[in-house]
Amino acid sequence: MSERVPIPTGAIAPSLLACDFARLEQQVVTVMDAGARVMHVDVMDGHFVPPITIGSLIVEALRDIVHDRGGLLDCHLMVERPERHVEAFVKAGADVITVHPEATPHIHYTLKLIRESGVNAGFVINPGTPVEVVEPVADLIDLCLVMSVNPGWGGQRYIPSSTARVAKLKAMLSPDVVLQIDGGISLETIDEARDAGVDLFVAGSSVFGADSGNASLPGTTSADIVSAHFNYNPRPGTVINGRYAAKWSRADDGWLRSTYRAQLLQARYTQDINKDWDFGIQAGLLHGKGGALQKTLGAEVGYQVMKDLWVSAGYNFVGLKDRDLTANEYTSKGAYIRLRFKFDETGLGFPSAGAAASANAK
Ligand code: DX5
Ligand code: ZN
Repeated sequence: MSERVPIPTGAIAPSLLACDFARLEQQVVTVMDAGARVMHVDVMDGHFVPPITIGSLIVEALRDIVHDRGGLLDCHLMVERPERHVEAFVKAGADVITVHPEATPHIHYTLKLIRESGVNAGFVINPGTPVEVVEPVADLIDLCLVMSVNPGWGGQRYIPSSTARVAKLKAMLSPDVVLQIDGGISLETIDEARDAGVDLFVAGSSVFGADSGNASLPGTTSADIVSAHFNYNPRPGTVINGRYAAKWSRADDGWLRSTYRAQLLQARYTQDINKDWDFGIQAGLLHGKGGALQKTLGAEVGYQVMKDLWVSAGYNFVGLKDRDLTANEYTSKGAYIRLRFKFDETGLGFPSAGAAASANAK
């Protein structure tokens, strides 16, 4: 019986489920050259979870590529009766075999079998399974995986209650057990998972796809915003303003890459208070990549700092379905300051809001 290899911690385990399978070797080499040491392999059988993905043949094909570079094959078996497949995965070169207690009446036996084969034994807890189920087998496992999405598909949203479940497990398990999380890990969610005690982070679409998560957290971020405005003065001292803006932002911390798109349709009503002060209220609809439509509502106060140059300070709220659009995914949430020019349009042949208000104030 060979010795179990130590599982790296404080690391990201790229999930191959999100890679380009036509270029499997290249994809593995790319993430390993970038520093990844744990390759997460999602094995699905079409029974325990609906999709069918990959099996031990692929693990075998990757064995030397991964092992020669000092890496580990972390096999997450989303299959019924995983005990029947342990031998095949061990032979193929698996270094960690992780199994679901819901998939077998013989979880204790399965974990023992994995360990006795010289491989690290992992135990997975689904989002709907109480964390306490790990207790009877806690001394048989090297890794405990908390599913932060329902198993079966990559690219899902992180289930917020997972964080508290991680914290509970951290307190329950021996510090020798590696605590792993899987599902919806991105620049946006990784910090809270780490703070709760996660040691190893599975990340699929945020590593291989440029299409998930958000672009608001540390690393390199960049954004392009285009917007079109329209102004209307129904009477002196009052301005109604409409705006459409589209934003594309990108984030890259070297490991996790993501892009985010959002569009905003907003209307603002601005009323002069006197010559130098005005206030505005605004409402808008925000549509982000997350899908749901958000309502935004805000207010601002403006002050004329020098002739025609105004500074406004305001605050925008995001509506009820806030969870779908997290902080800073779009610039229209939170406090802001903006500079604006407010001209006396009489020179352009229009009646002036500003001029009339100043005249009244004198
Ligand atoms: C889901 C799998 C995950 C999945 C993670 O059943 O276990 O490993 O690939 O993918 P992301 O990071 O895209 O949620
Ligand atoms: Zn997985």
